[in-house]
Amino acid sequence: MTVHFIGAGPGAPDLITLRGRDLIAASPVCLYAGSLVPQALLAHCPPGARIVNTAPLSLDEIMAEISAAHAAGQDVARLHSGDLSIWSAMGEQLRRLRALNIPYDVTPGVPSFAAAAAALATELTLPGLAQSVVLTRTSGRATAMPARENLPAFAATGATLAIHLSVHVLADVVKDLTPHYGPDCPVAVVWRATWPDERIVRATLATLQTAIGAEMERTALILVGPALAAEGFEESRLYAGDYDRRFRPVGTEPRFPDAT
Ligand SMILES: C[S@@+](CC[C@H](N)C(=O)[O-])C[C@H]1O[C@@H](n2cnc3c(N)ncnc32)[C@H](O)[C@@H]1O
Repeated sequence: MTVHFIGAGPGAPDLITLRGRDLIAASPVCLYAGSLVPQALLAHCPPGARIVNTAPLSLDEIMAEISAAHAAGQDVARLHSGDLSIWSAMGEQLRRLRALNIPYDVTPGVPSFAAAAAALATELTLPGLAQSVVLTRTSGRATAMPARENLPAFAATGATLAIHLSVHVLADVVKDLTPHYGPDCPVAVVWRATWPDERIVRATLATLQTAIGAEMERTALILVGPALAAEGFEESRLYAGDYDRRFRPVGTEPRFPDAT
């Protein structure tokens, strides 16, 4: 018996991996985080599967479900939205499973920041403009931010920021970022990327709040940084015609003469 933690992707049901889909199909128990995991994925569960929405359950109640499946020798498909490596509450479940000697494995999923970047058709790391992406959030009711992880500190790097769980405090986000990026810095907010009701607003830090109006939906990502609206960036050296590299030796004295 194994508990399969599976990244369910950002919303569109065909953005789960084949491995994730097959594990759901092979598991007689499915526990899913109902608030953001698309219901359509549950169609992959085998006939007669026990399917439980864990949104209203406590950690103890979730562990009781897993322990019952373990006692019955039944595999569990455990679905969380996006990828499991960020804000999934997987860590605390794995710690309990280790203490109980219950086996588990982890299958990655498409994270929402990648889905939002795809919706914008944007590369977040453009040569000469940004070579880092910071995945971050602001403090929430349930989770405080460690003191040194704050927006002004990340903004001081000029990197592309992907700010989660924060659209409800947009005014504070804009206030913290503007001194570092400037009022003309491009920003995009993507609500429910890949869901049928996906919505995108592009603006600058100065115009963002007016552009958004009274939007209340909270499942949104704020992407900020010069890469978001850039046309005048450098081309990458990797594909430059005169760039000598292992897979495309160039010149009379290539650096990798024996490469194939
Ligand atoms: C609890 S976190 C889950 C993150 C998830 N594990 C991931 O890999 O993206 C929920 C937050 O992720 C972002 N999010 C998740 N799905 C999204 C989507 N489809 N579109 C935009 N933002 C999304 C929002 O900021 C939301 O408040």
